Amino acid sequence: CGIVGYTGQRQAIEVAVEGLGRLEYRGYDSAGIALVGPGGLVVEKRAGKLANLRSALLSRPAPPSTVGIGHTRWATHGAPTDRNAHPHADCHGRIAVIHNGIIENFAVLRSELEDKGHRIVSETDTEVVAHLLEEFAAGGLAEAMRRVCLRLEGAFTLLAVSVDEPEVVVGARRNSPLVVGRGDGENFLGSDVAAFIAYTREAVELGQDQVVELRPSKITVFDFQGAPAETRDYHIGWDASAAEKDGYDHFMLKEIAEQPRAVADTLLGRVGQDGLLVLDEMRLSDQELRDIDKIILVACGTSYHAGLIAKYAIEHWAQLPCEVEVASEFRYRDPILTRDTLVVVISQSGETMDTLMAVRHARGQRSRVLAVCNVNGSTISRESDAVLYTHAGPEVAVASTKAFLTQLVACYLVALYLAQVRGTKFGDEITQIVDRLAEMPSKVSEVLSTVEPVRALARSLADERCVLFLGRHVGFPVALEGALKLKELAYMHAEGFAAGELKHGPIALIDKGLPVVVVVPSLAGQRVIHDKIVSNIQEIRARGARTLVIAEEGDDVVERYADTLIHIPAVPTLLQPLVATVPLQVFACELATAKGHDVDQPRNLAKSVTVE
Ligand code: G6P
Repeated sequence: CGIVGYTGQRQAIEVAVEGLGRLEYRGYDSAGIALVGPGGLVVEKRAGKLANLRSALLSRPAPPSTVGIGHTRWATHGAPTDRNAHPHADCHGRIAVIHNGIIENFAVLRSELEDKGHRIVSETDTEVVAHLLEEFAAGGLAEAMRRVCLRLEGAFTLLAVSVDEPEVVVGARRNSPLVVGRGDGENFLGSDVAAFIAYTREAVELGQDQVVELRPSKITVFDFQGAPAETRDYHIGWDASAAEKDGYDHFMLKEIAEQPRAVADTLLGRVGQDGLLVLDEMRLSDQELRDIDKIILVACGTSYHAGLIAKYAIEHWAQLPCEVEVASEFRYRDPILTRDTLVVVISQSGETMDTLMAVRHARGQRSRVLAVCNVNGSTISRESDAVLYTHAGPEVAVASTKAFLTQLVACYLVALYLAQVRGTKFGDEITQIVDRLAEMPSKVSEVLSTVEPVRALARSLADERCVLFLGRHVGFPVALEGALKLKELAYMHAEGFAAGELKHGPIALIDKGLPVVVVVPSLAGQRVIHDKIVSNIQEIRARGARTLVIAEEGDDVVERYADTLIHIPAVPTLLQPLVATVPLQVFACELATAKGHDVDQPRNLAKSVTVE
């Protein structure tokens, strides 16, 4: 969910609605605001996207107010209706609350409150908080929030306003994101800095289990026990224009186009004068790096696919055993973790709850955790032993693109750095490989300048019901990512397979005319893998599939088996995902547009999922 809070001199409604516009990617099942005005509390909320709330506010303008909170919801408890939309108020309409996360003991609290005579009108887990705040209201809103938090189980970010303290917004967090924006005579709260980036670039990090009381000229932070808490101020390295569409129809198109720059930014400052890597951010001594005996990569969604590709690079260059696991499964089995296991978690947002729990589990077992992360100061980056930031800039479209490419680059850097320090047989080749990496921004640009045929192909497939994706070696995770993009954006059945596995079952799916995208490995790699996939293409073609082949320039072997051939630049095998993924992103984006879907905000999804 997206959360914004404001107190200052401006009209709070404008700040809240502007902030929600920038946060909508965090959830768009409903949107709502609460303002504290001269006439009391005003709450307006609507199911559906922010546009619905905007038109409600136009038809029924809110009274002037300089204190308010706003929320965009990704539904967990209760359907996405007007009634279940946040904010939720107490019995007397004096306190309003918004919430991100899940309050696990809400059923117990609800019946306790109902026994005391509270009338709870929504199906959400959130509403109990408004009623609990009412119970504790006598000590002031911030103190009430602290006492309420002690009663709550689960994960939450909470914001509240009360008519009894018309200058104050109170926030609290446990295992769910919340940052403070520091202004001049005004202060802000947001689930991420995008909430207030239009007004200030000065932010304050909050720790776990902390309550913040915000007044126009004062920020007070204390922990759930009531003791004053330390905070850290930081400057946000990008401005509001970075989070705008810049003339593109969708954020996703803009972010796809930004990939050459993003890849270059990930490399920036990480290669020394001598061409060797400088990764002090890993915060492990050379000896500790040499002692590592296993790497486990943990992530979700698209970031998990980056992990799958990283495994090939780490095993090859660093010659270390490497496992990859989806974060939601990791801590529920018994992963063998020791002090010499390096757990690399990959997360664009740094807030994904499944991944955060994996971090805690790994650290609890004394393993070292390195986060590959895009958001400065995010929970995962703060709780890990070390962070390698991807520097992709803000990614707004729900389906990840530039973050993915930069995660790959960061993982390549980790693999190469380990090879460098551990002195594997590739240790002497680092400078050459890094040179090839440095060429990747221009290779990605090349792909972007030749994607028009991909667009036309996508439009021609808008009425298909199913598309399969095949790959081998690093092309296999690329196929998985291509299929995921199509599911997310076009709501089509799309499945990725290891091409060699096809014959063991999925080949039964092949029917006359079925579109199958095949990612062909580079010719410069192991020739045998290339030739094997050529055989796989023939197998599916013989069964009537329509083959859409992605292969490097100069690969004339595949030409005759491709119904449609899409060329990508020739690059070293391990780096091929950086160029092979781009046409698949464009393909999914264009196909979804042809079907009339909202590309930036696909149904049922959210950019950052902060529940398990
Ligand atoms: C959500 C998003 C996906 C993303 C995944 C992991 O499900 O919709 O696009 O890949 O979370 O997000 P993270 O921020 O941890 O990379």
